[in-house]
Amino acid sequence: MDRISVDLSGTAGFVGGHELTYMEGAAEGAAHSMIRGMGPGSEFLGWLSLPHDYDKDEFKRILAAAEKVRGESDVFLVIGIGGSYLGARAAIDMLTHTFRNQLYKARKAPQVLFAGHNMSAAYMSDLLEMLEGREVSVNVISKSGTTTEPAVAFRMVKRLMEEKYGKEGAARRIYATTDKASGALRRMADAEGYETFAIPGDVGGRFSVLTAVGLLPMAVAGIDIGSVMAGAADYEKVASGGFPGNDCLKYASMRNILYRKGKSVEVMVSYEPSMAMFTEWWKQLFGESEGKDQKGIFPAGVGFTTDLHSMGQFIQDGARIMFETVINVDRSAKSAMIPDDPEDCDGLNFLSGMDMGLVNRKAAQGTLLAHVEGGVPNVAVNVPEVSAYWFGQLVYFFEMACGVSCRLMGVNPFDQPGVEGYKRNMFALLGKPGYERERAELEARL
Ligand code: PA5
Repeated sequence: MDRISVDLSGTAGFVGGHELTYMEGAAEGAAHSMIRGMGPGSEFLGWLSLPHDYDKDEFKRILAAAEKVRGESDVFLVIGIGGSYLGARAAIDMLTHTFRNQLYKARKAPQVLFAGHNMSAAYMSDLLEMLEGREVSVNVISKSGTTTEPAVAFRMVKRLMEEKYGKEGAARRIYATTDKASGALRRMADAEGYETFAIPGDVGGRFSVLTAVGLLPMAVAGIDIGSVMAGAADYEKVASGGFPGNDCLKYASMRNILYRKGKSVEVMVSYEPSMAMFTEWWKQLFGESEGKDQKGIFPAGVGFTTDLHSMGQFIQDGARIMFETVINVDRSAKSAMIPDDPEDCDGLNFLSGMDMGLVNRKAAQGTLLAHVEGGVPNVAVNVPEVSAYWFGQLVYFFEMACGVSCRLMGVNPFDQPGVEGYKRNMFALLGKPGYERERAELEARL
C-alpha cells in the first residue's frame, strides 16, 4: 500500500540521527497508550477507530441527503466554526475545481458557502444578499449546540429560509449535525423536524472531519467520501505500527526535538493555493490541542510562492525560531504550459514549453535549500497525488501525529480550557444574564 512519507533530510544539520532514535520508545508508548484508550483525554479517542468503525447507516443517509441537496440547491450553506467547518472546507478547496463556486451552473453542483465562523456584520449582510433569489439548503453544525457564532448566524439564516420556503419547506432543507442527545441545536432540530446527523460523543470538534461534520459538505461538493474513509483506514493501519516504519511517529518526534532546541514556531508550507484551508485545519488541530500549560509549538502557515514575496524574508533571515513542514503534493494531473514568445521582451523564453508545475517544483527545491542554509530545519511530508483517498490519509496522519506530539509535550490533546476566556468576557460585555458582576468589572477596566 502506498502511504504518506516523511523526509527528514532537511533536519540533518540541526538534529543528529541518534536524537530521533532516542525518541522511539516515548513516541511508540504515546501512540500505544492512546490506542489502548489510556492517558489524559482518553474519553475523546473515538476518532482513532472512526475510519473502520463508523455508523454505516448514517453514512448512507449522508449520501442520500447530499444527492437531494445537489438536486434542489444553487447554494449549500454550511454554518459552523473551528472543527465544525475547517475540515470540510479544507477538503472542498483541495479536491474540487479552484473556481467551483463560479462555475457551479456549468458543473451542476451547488456552490458551497460558509457562515457562522466569524461575527462580522458585513460578511453576514453580504451573504444574506447573495442568497436572495437562489435555491438554498443549509447544514448547521455544532457539537455542543451552544457556540455563539454559528448560533447567531443560524438564527438569521433560519429566518430567511422560513420566509422563503415556509416553516415546513425550510425544515426540509435544513440539516443539523450535532450531539446525539444534548445541546440547544439538538433540541431545536428535534422540535423543528430537521434531518439530523450525530457527532459521536467521544470525538472532539477538531478531530471530527471524518464524521458527518466533514462528510456531508464533502459529499454535496461531489467528493467521494468512501475514498476519504478508505484512505484514512489505510493510514490507521500504518499509524499503529512500530517506529521504524511509522513516519507519523517520526514527524511527531522530530517536531518535539526541534521544539526542545528552541524552534517554537512550525510553519506549514504548501505550494498549492488549494491547500490553504488544509493549512488552516492543521493550524487548529495542533494549536488548540498542543498550546496549553504555557507550552506548545505555535503553528503558522504560508502559501508559496506567494508568501515568498512577503513572509519569505522573515523565514530566510529573521529570528531563528522556526522550522518548516512542507506538504509536497503532486498536482501533475493538471498542467499549464508556458508559451513561446518570439519577441521575448520579458526574457522568459528559457521557460518556453515548460509546465508551470515544473517551475513550481523547482521553486520548491530552491527554497528548501535556501531556507535550510538560512538556519530553518525542513521536514517534508510527501503525498503522491491530490485525491479523496489521499486527503483521508493526510487527515489520519496529522491527527495521530498531533495526539502523539501532545503526549510527548506532556499536555492533554483533547481539551481546550483556554478558549473559555474570551467567551466569558464577551458574554459579560453583551449583558448575558448571570454575568452581571463580571460585566461591571470589565467595563471598569475598559
Ligand atoms: O475542537 C474544538 O472542540 C473546537 O474548535 C470546536 O470545534 C469549535 O469550538 C466549535 O464547537 P461546536 O461544534 O461545539 O460549535
